[in-house]
Amino acid sequence: MNLLIMGLPGAGKGTQAEFIVKNYGVNHISTGDMFRAAMKNETEMGKLAKSFIDKGELVPDEVTNGIVKERLAQDDIKASGFLLDGYPRTIDQAHALDTMLEELGIKLDAVVNIVVNPDILVDRLSGRYICRNCGATYHKIFNPTKVEGVCDVCGSHDLYQRADDVPETVKNRLDVNIKESAPIIEHYTELGLVKNIEGEQEISQVTEDIKIALTKNLK
Ligand code: AP5
Ligand code: MG
Repeated sequence: MNLLIMGLPGAGKGTQAEFIVKNYGVNHISTGDMFRAAMKNETEMGKLAKSFIDKGELVPDEVTNGIVKERLAQDDIKASGFLLDGYPRTIDQAHALDTMLEELGIKLDAVVNIVVNPDILVDRLSGRYICRNCGATYHKIFNPTKVEGVCDVCGSHDLYQRADDVPETVKNRLDVNIKESAPIIEHYTELGLVKNIEGEQEISQVTEDIKIALTKNLK
């Protein structure tokens, strides 16, 4: 299966991606995670990405399209499919993705769009913490670890908060993403691919609704 997961910053893309990847065996491609890995390794691309991410701005399309194109061309994608998380994020990226998939002979099956009111997202992002070892995502109130400070999945004690989750940056991330996402959703709606999911429910209920939407897709 070849899927996109969309939604504003903090909508729950990464949280639900964990379930989709486990359940359907697809490859998780998160452009945000790829940029953070490059930032950690202090590559040229990482330094460039940091200068945008720290301000809550989007990394330029040509850089982002380049890393996605390279990843989609790898053998495991044709073998087991993908879940693109956080891409496309501009209408130009959506058109670039259409071309990439056409060239590779890959068909997109569905676009999971997690819908939430932007007002709740500052709280979601300021309470988020992530396991540095395995990437599992938690929230200090909505989704805490079973034992404080210890990752449920891998047992690591190394949980951290993202630098771009500070309120000033979050506000700009939301503004940028609200503006850019509308034409993308319109594009995929015209293609009949969008599954709108109510994202303000409990995490497990959001998962359930995604499962139902994708099961219909598989029939
Ligand atoms: P990226 O890493 O993609 O960040 P984002 O889109 O801002 O989204 P987040 O990862 O912050 O949120 P999420 O939807 O994954 O939410 P999560 O599941 O963690 O991108 C970062 C930056 O990289 C961008 O700002 C940009 O600069 C750059 N970038 C990336 N892709 C790019 C592209 N294509 N083009 C250009 N630039 C790009 O959940 C959030 C919190 O809420 C967690 O604590 C979680 O536990 C909690 N939570 C989740 N679901 C629920 C629920 N149902 N109820 C209660 N709490 C919940
Ligand atoms: Mg994410």
